[in-house]
Amino acid sequence: MNDKSTSVLLISQDEKIHADFSKALSEDTYTLSAEYNTLVGLNGNRTKVAAYHDIVLFDLDQNNPESLQAAREMNAARASGSILIALADEDLPLSKARELNRAGVDDVLPRHALDDEIIPQIEVWRARQSAQIPAVWAGQASEGKVIAIAQARGGVGSSTLAVNLADVLQRRRGLFSKKATCKVALVDLDFQFGSIAALVDVEETDALWRMAMEGTVPDTAFVEQALTVSESGLSVLTAPSRFGPLNALKSEQVGAILDILKKSHDYVVVDLPGALVDWIEPVLSRADKVLLMTDITVPSVRSARKLIDFYLAEHPGLEIELVASHEKKPIMYSSHHRAATELLENQINFWIPNDPKATREAMDRGRPLARIAPRSSIAKAIRRIGHEITTTLPPRIAFPQ
Ligand SMILES: Nc1ncnc2c1ncn2[C@@H]1O[C@H](COP(=O)(O)OP(=O)(O)OP(=O)(O)O)[C@@H](O)[C@H]1O
Ligand SMILES: [Mg+2]
Repeated sequence: MNDKSTSVLLISQDEKIHADFSKALSEDTYTLSAEYNTLVGLNGNRTKVAAYHDIVLFDLDQNNPESLQAAREMNAARASGSILIALADEDLPLSKARELNRAGVDDVLPRHALDDEIIPQIEVWRARQSAQIPAVWAGQASEGKVIAIAQARGGVGSSTLAVNLADVLQRRRGLFSKKATCKVALVDLDFQFGSIAALVDVEETDALWRMAMEGTVPDTAFVEQALTVSESGLSVLTAPSRFGPLNALKSEQVGAILDILKKSHDYVVVDLPGALVDWIEPVLSRADKVLLMTDITVPSVRSARKLIDFYLAEHPGLEIELVASHEKKPIMYSSHHRAATELLENQINFWIPNDPKATREAMDRGRPLARIAPRSSIAKAIRRIGHEITTTLPPRIAFPQ
């Protein structure tokens, strides 16, 4: 993160929104300015205030026909590289959102989704800006980040997490969440039993199988051809449609695939197999984060502990975060939670509640939870993980806006 404070201007007559914003935005990171007015009501001051802020948010007065012209003037006067966001009712018609877009508004967000939509969007913007500084020093910000999803036991919910986290990391913008702002690849390395293709409703290909059998190291053209784009916009590399031996896949092949995908995507989400095979090494050596999913039962927690030790023995710097499945975050730890964290010698970073109905429906329809059940507890929990990742591991700077 860069040290510069991000300057945010909020234009609204609603005192509660002002109060909520000042609570939600950390003073260490943001300087919040308030205008208790409407965009139209600011008149000549509009263009004066526009130029001095990194992010300008305004509460849309839907019934005032002058709002659109006011947005146009705001857009013309704002600082270069700044972002202009309208806050609107959730049922704003698509035609109105489009008009605002055409007037230069970057995003139209639902006014009441402060925690779920507005703050995460502000933080993504800040992360993107900040990423430009290390890009010059380290030359790394033009490559995507690799997030590996591992499981302490079969069936714990790791593929569900991989698919929905990948979806969240696309950071779709706007009221209708149509336009992805990050490019995300989803790689199913569960070579024999992969289920990602079904979860995102694409056809399995035999590309990985052919590559494994022929022993070739893939190039960019091969990887591009092997990818299938899902309805939600993910670039998916499916597990093979044919059965092949686990050891047919080689470390150089897996490493090459990830290196190629990192160049063209902001995030590469890898669903790891349950088996410990040689070729997970190139994933671990490239992983910016491993999410290890476990349930809080003794056998799973023991396996999770063994996996952590195994991963860290080879990759001492690896960042591993624990995700507890089928449980919402307890208000107070019970004795089995305490026993688990002691055995793990690690905190549990995230909790994914049990939500069979939403999960089942999303799975049956091959659609992300964010579409099928955006308000479900599981969708919210996965959004939280996505939010943490986009903040700590910002997207590339090279991706065109
Ligand atoms: N939070 C949840 N609440 C309820 N059911 C869930 C949840 N997460 C996953 N499931 C269900 O559990 C089953 C297994 O999920 P999933 O395929 O994601 O697990 P996995 O760990 O990838 O399994 P595998 O070891 O077979 O790869 C699926 O039927 C899925 O719908
Ligand atoms: Mg799986």
